[in-house]
Amino acid sequence: MSNKKSIKKQLIVLFISSVIITHLLLAVGFQLAVQYHFLKQDYQHIKDEVLNVFPDNEQRIITQSILNYYALNKINIWVIKGTQPDYQNSAVTLPAGSLPFLLAHKDIKQPFNWEADGDTYRAFAFSMAGNVVLVAGLKINDHLIFARGMNWMILGFLSLTAVCAIGYGIFSVKRSLRPLKDFAAYLATVSPEHLSVRIPAKKLPTELEELADVQNKMLDRLENGFQRLGEFSSDIAHELRTPLSNMMTQTQVTLARKRSLTEYEEVLIANVEELERINKTINDTLYLAKSENALLHREDQQLDLAVEITEVIEYLSIIGDEKQLHFELNGTGQLYFDQTMFRRVMSNLLSNAVRHAQPDSTIHVRINCSSALTHISVSNSGDTIPQASLPFIFDRFYRADKARGYQQSVGAGLGLAIVRSILEAYQGKVSVVSGQSVTTFTIEIPHS
Ligand SMILES: Nc1ncnc2c1ncn2[C@@H]1O[C@H](COP(=O)(O)OP(=O)(O)OP(=O)(O)O)[C@@H](O)[C@H]1O
Ligand SMILES: [Mg+2]
Repeated sequence: MSNKKSIKKQLIVLFISSVIITHLLLAVGFQLAVQYHFLKQDYQHIKDEVLNVFPDNEQRIITQSILNYYALNKINIWVIKGTQPDYQNSAVTLPAGSLPFLLAHKDIKQPFNWEADGDTYRAFAFSMAGNVVLVAGLKINDHLIFARGMNWMILGFLSLTAVCAIGYGIFSVKRSLRPLKDFAAYLATVSPEHLSVRIPAKKLPTELEELADVQNKMLDRLENGFQRLGEFSSDIAHELRTPLSNMMTQTQVTLARKRSLTEYEEVLIANVEELERINKTINDTLYLAKSENALLHREDQQLDLAVEITEVIEYLSIIGDEKQLHFELNGTGQLYFDQTMFRRVMSNLLSNAVRHAQPDSTIHVRINCSSALTHISVSNSGDTIPQASLPFIFDRFYRADKARGYQQSVGAGLGLAIVRSILEAYQGKVSVVSGQSVTTFTIEIPHS
């Protein structure tokens, strides 16, 4: 048998036990109330009968006429002088041990009950003049019969209400847990092919609404992730297919007939370029995957930003020189960062700037360090990025200028995705502003 706890069972057990406990308390309460009612009634009756005969309640002198009166009114009387009965008006005797109790509880609503010859008696004690105590008793058989009948009635009534309450409780528990079943039924329909299923949170009870919201958000993320994964596979296939088919066509055409050595050389050079491109795409994809999954080895150290950026600029100036580009670096600062990652961020931003800058223009790099943040911006003049493309510019394989399609000079569209991923690992961010022939990328890194 499973040891797992079931909320339904727990609630039902809780409900049943609370119904039983409250009904038991009610039964005991009713019984005590009935008993108290008769006690009060008996005491009042005996007190009235016994004490109303004295014209002056203070005096309470027992005379023969008073004893006669008691006999007439069928009240059992025992006159106690000292600690012994001196007179009694019936054959009923006080049981052993009753006198000390009655003498200790005289003039209060505290009875002594006993059974004799199948009858039940109840007696109270009252102080009389001259140190005399009068014990007055009544047969309470009728009361007991009534109380017993009443008990059965209460028991029957309470059992009925308990059964009804338990039945209703079980029904309510099952009913109120039904949304959980619906919830599970919705989730059961989720599969990689059906990730668009959303739980109708608004229709669920408040307690489940929050859970459904969280679940829906998780489904959003999953759907997004699956979609990205799908896109990623087709993107990478597309990226690799074009250079490979280029190489294949070129090689097949070359092999169709005998070529000169120079022609073979040209084809091989073209093939190497394509292979380099494939190699870069694969390396960048792997780097991005590692970076997004925090698998890159980080060796953070204090970096002199101006020195690091100058190194990157020098490396890129060979290509920059071809377009007669100038670099201008302003500002200085220190940053605790992994050197390879920082250089990768800067070379991706600067190589984009070099690629898109118009010839004979200046690429500006500005370093701005405050106590909490480091800002570095890279701007170039040239063709701007269409506003519609800006939200997607940091997505992998995204190229703003789709019209250009595949070209040797164009990258795979992974550079900015890598920049964003590296910065996110440092809780930093990257943003872009593009307009009026100037494109500026700004990175922001908090000082940890
Ligand atoms: N400085 C810039 N000016 C104009 N457009 C830019 C600039 N930087 C990036 N872009 C646009 O953003 C796109 C994405 O840039 P990203 O660096 O991610 O990829 P890529 O440069 O095309 O390829 P990769 O960096 O992988 O070699 C580019 O294709 C380009 O359209
Ligand atoms: Mg790039």
